[in-house]
Amino acid sequence: MAIVKATEGAIRVAAEHVREGQLVAFPTETVYGLGGDSTNGKAVAAIFEAKARPRFNPLIVHVADIANAKTHAEFTPLGLRLAEAFWPGPLTLVLRRRAESDLCDLTSAGLETIAIRVPDHPIAQALLKAAGLPLAAPSANRSGRVSPTQAAHVHIDLGERVGLILDGGPTAHGLESTIIDATGEAPVLLRTGAVPAETIESVLGQSIIRAAEAGDKPQSPGQLASHYAPEARVRLGAIDVHEGEALLAFGSDVPATAGPMINLSATGDLIEAAANLFAALRALDQTGTDRIAVMPIPENGVGEAINDRLRRAAAPRS
Ligand code: TXA
Ligand code: MG
Repeated sequence: MAIVKATEGAIRVAAEHVREGQLVAFPTETVYGLGGDSTNGKAVAAIFEAKARPRFNPLIVHVADIANAKTHAEFTPLGLRLAEAFWPGPLTLVLRRRAESDLCDLTSAGLETIAIRVPDHPIAQALLKAAGLPLAAPSANRSGRVSPTQAAHVHIDLGERVGLILDGGPTAHGLESTIIDATGEAPVLLRTGAVPAETIESVLGQSIIRAAEAGDKPQSPGQLASHYAPEARVRLGAIDVHEGEALLAFGSDVPATAGPMINLSATGDLIEAAANLFAALRALDQTGTDRIAVMPIPENGVGEAINDRLRRAAAPRS
């Protein structure tokens, strides 16, 4: 079994693996990442291979602190304000890549910009420090599947493709980091995520441009319509349950159903709902149902990111 409890010794072994160019799955405060040395083209190629991810999709680089991030990215004043306010934490910044950076081209898929963040998780931090390398780490799932929020999810999706899975229990946020393009003067939201857009706006005292409204690219290439998909078909905004459907509920006012049901948060707490979302979709899939009805979820705070993931889960599959 490749899953090991993330003791100090296990983290040392994982760091050794990473330095040798192997892949290691580790917990962050958002979801589990599939990490590899982002300066090593072979290691990064192995990440794409393990995830069966399209090559054009660039990866997020994880570093231990701002000082380290500055060796790879050109910080704009906006980028610095965001980093100081939200790092370590679940915010990823897209910034221009520095010419001196030793990141391999595959990490950023040949773009002039990179996506970078400082994770706020003791195991991720310990691994970054022990490895002494920037780690490229997409979510540790097969491409197109829901992101793993527990070590067992990683094992189910990737099995023997990852040599070592550091188990740090369920992740706190349960949703990927929010991605902001901070290359210019105005922040552009490329992906909703664990930090609500409103929180960023109130810290900056400035409104965020939604990438969809920005007109000009770059869109986050990861924003494929059908993404984060469970096996079952998903019906959104359900106020009742049709014959044969499983129910993904939210809040206290749940329609009666004889079928499988999971409540994301009986008290209507969006943070709790986000943390439970991906595990709940997996668990409903495992009941063998082929259709999941999802109750309406408010669009405020982290609800915006929850609804984004659910819309992708419900999008027509190619
Ligand atoms: O919470 C997270 O961010 C997790 C954990 C493991 O840290 N990681 C994660 O990474 O979600 P990944 O690789 O699954 O997501 C990468 C996203 C994609 O949407 C990709 O298109 C975008 O980052 N991205 C990466 N580099 C970019 C760039 N230079 N410009 C725009 N978007 C970029
Ligand atoms: Mg992902």
